Amino acid sequence: MTLQRLFPTLVYQGHLKRNGWQAFNNRLLRECLQLRADDAAGRQWSAGNYPGGYTSYNSVSRMHRVSPTFAELERRLRKHVDSFVSTLQFDLRQRELAMTDCWVNIMPRHVVHGLHLHPLATISGTYYVRTPKGCPGLKFEDPRLERFMAAPPRLPHRGSEGLPWKVIPAQAGELLLFESWLRHEVPPNPVAAERISISFNYSWF
Ligand SMILES: [Fe+2]
Repeated sequence: MTLQRLFPTLVYQGHLKRNGWQAFNNRLLRECLQLRADDAAGRQWSAGNYPGGYTSYNSVSRMHRVSPTFAELERRLRKHVDSFVSTLQFDLRQRELAMTDCWVNIMPRHVVHGLHLHPLATISGTYYVRTPKGCPGLKFEDPRLERFMAAPPRLPHRGSEGLPWKVIPAQAGELLLFESWLRHEVPPNPVAAERISISFNYSWF
């Protein structure tokens, strides 16, 4: 008998390993907090669309174009993206996969980032700047969920592979990459300290 596992959903986990990543991370942290202080339009948009939190998604969404520190983050992410794309076997010989968006998310206590995907993008991801102990990870939903018409629940002791969702813990200095159609959310932050991340999109068209 042979069982084949078809059509896997891949999520890439990496770390900014190069020496000095913590000093670099501190520069990113300072800029994230400064951006929130300076970005009145973003704070106003967040009040209506990201209650209790701050995101520059709708105001300063190309940080890699306006900040040398974020431009360096883009350079440091490149090898990870190249590796992921290679594993996905994307044929990009004729087109370049380029970062199109890069924005800041700050989640104080009780803030949630509901289930969503990233339209008009190919690869998306998050880099974690500050992850206080007990803060939520990133929860991914099984992309086949809407087709589970008559599937029974899975046995809990079989591990996470059969569950319709998977939470990958957040850790400062680490990054996640995934295909942009994969739905995900950040559950409510239960701790008093702020969870800070930088999200980004890459597109090949
Ligand atoms: Fe997202």
